[in-house]
Amino acid sequence: MSLAPGWHPVALSGSIDPGTSAGTHLDGREYVVWRDNSGAAHVWEDRCPHRGMKLSFGFVRGDHIACLYHGWQYDTAGRCRYIPAHPDLEVPATITVPVFATAEACGMIWTTKDAEADRAAPPSGSGDTVPVASLQAACRTETLIDAVRAAPAQPFVADAAGFDLAPVAETLWRLTVGGDTLLLGVQRLGEARSALHVAIEGSEAVYAGAGQAHWFAWFRALRHRLGAVTDAGARSAAAMAEAV
Ligand code: FES
Repeated sequence: MSLAPGWHPVALSGSIDPGTSAGTHLDGREYVVWRDNSGAAHVWEDRCPHRGMKLSFGFVRGDHIACLYHGWQYDTAGRCRYIPAHPDLEVPATITVPVFATAEACGMIWTTKDAEADRAAPPSGSGDTVPVASLQAACRTETLIDAVRAAPAQPFVADAAGFDLAPVAETLWRLTVGGDTLLLGVQRLGEARSALHVAIEGSEAVYAGAGQAHWFAWFRALRHRLGAVTDAGARSAAAMAEAV
C-alpha cells in the first residue's frame, strides 16, 4: 500500500538527537528517521541498497549515515559516497536510498511522499512546544483518537472544564483543557497499529520537567488504557472508559 497523501508525524523532535537514528513504519513500510550532526532531520526508506540491511541499525558520521553491515556511507541526499572495501572508487551516482521530504513542526518530525508541486506546508502550531512522550498501540488511528477523547483529564488537571479535542489536520489534533494545549500527532504504522506523539504548546520555562508532570501522568494512564485497545473486539472507547 502506498503512503497516504499529506504529512505524517514519525517522531517527536526531541526523541532524535543529532547523530542518532531510529526505525519506524508508515502504512506498513519501514523508514529510518535520523538527524545529522548539524541537527537536520531526515526520513528515508530504511533499507541499504547494497544488501538490504536496515539503515536505522547504522551510525551517523557528520552528515553521512553509514550502514552497519559493510559500512557504505550515504550523504544527506541519499547518495552513496563511500564504500570501505573500495576506498578509491568513485561511487556510481545510481547507488541511492529513496529519501522523502522532511519537516519539523509542532515539536515533531514529519514526512510526506507528495510531489513537490502538490506539497502543502506541514501542520503548524502557534509557537514553542515541549515534548511529552510517544506511544504505540495495537489499534487504528481512529480508535486511538477515540481513546484520547474518552480519557479523563481529571485528576491530572485541577480544572478539567472546557475539554476540547479538535483536528488541526488529518494527522494532527489539538487538545485543550485546564489552560493547557496539547498537540497530538497521529501516525499510522500499519493496518491496526498506530503511534501517538504528544507535545505541549508553550515554553520550556513553563512546561519542561516538573511543569509537565501532570500531563506525563495523564499520558501514562492513556498508555495503560490503550494497552487494552483492539479494533477486533469493536469495543468503543466509551465502553473502555467504563471498564477501566
Ligand atoms: S548491506 Fe549495507 S553496506 Fe552492505
